[in-house]
Amino acid sequence: MNQYGKFIISTNHGIEWGGISGPYKTDSPEEKRGHALCVKKCQSCHGKGGIGENYSIEALTNKDYIMAPALDASAHAWHHTDEALQKFILEGSTRTARMAAWKDLDVSDADAHNLVAYIKSLWTRRELECQGPKHMQCMQ
Ligand code: HEC
Repeated sequence: MNQYGKFIISTNHGIEWGGISGPYKTDSPEEKRGHALCVKKCQSCHGKGGIGENYSIEALTNKDYIMAPALDASAHAWHHTDEALQKFILEGSTRTARMAAWKDLDVSDADAHNLVAYIKSLWTRRELECQGPKHMQCMQ
């Protein structure tokens, strides 16, 4: 199980993990470009298909360690607007240097746009309809 209590599966003896039903199919050119970038630059922390970081000795023993959240629908990436997500990607986290300011690491505005398009391809209709400030109305 991952940090959200979701079952995950590995087909190569625990080297890589993915969601059981797999991510939704990526479709548009933006989503495809975002997917390729994510595999290259983001997947090592955020997991294949954006399922979130896996447990590690460090994550379990260092209380200050902030795990990379899921970018699919299991965490709260969808509580943010497209603009907020893009800004976070480009400017990074103020809480941990692990989430870098990707604008300094060769990620352009257009890349950030494509990354957000890909991330949104991992959501379901519910999160797409409830994204950003609307999310409170969709919480049960
Ligand atoms: C070295 C690990 C690491 C890599 C690589 C990484 N991230 Fe992150 N990311 C994190 C961590 C840790 C956080 C949590 C930051 C926080 O809580 O302040 C985070 C947070 C985020 C968030 C905010 C999610 C939310 O729900 O608020 C987004 C969006 C995000 N990352 C996108 C990306 C993208 C896109 C890439 C690739 C360009 C990337 N990250 C690469 C570690 C990483």
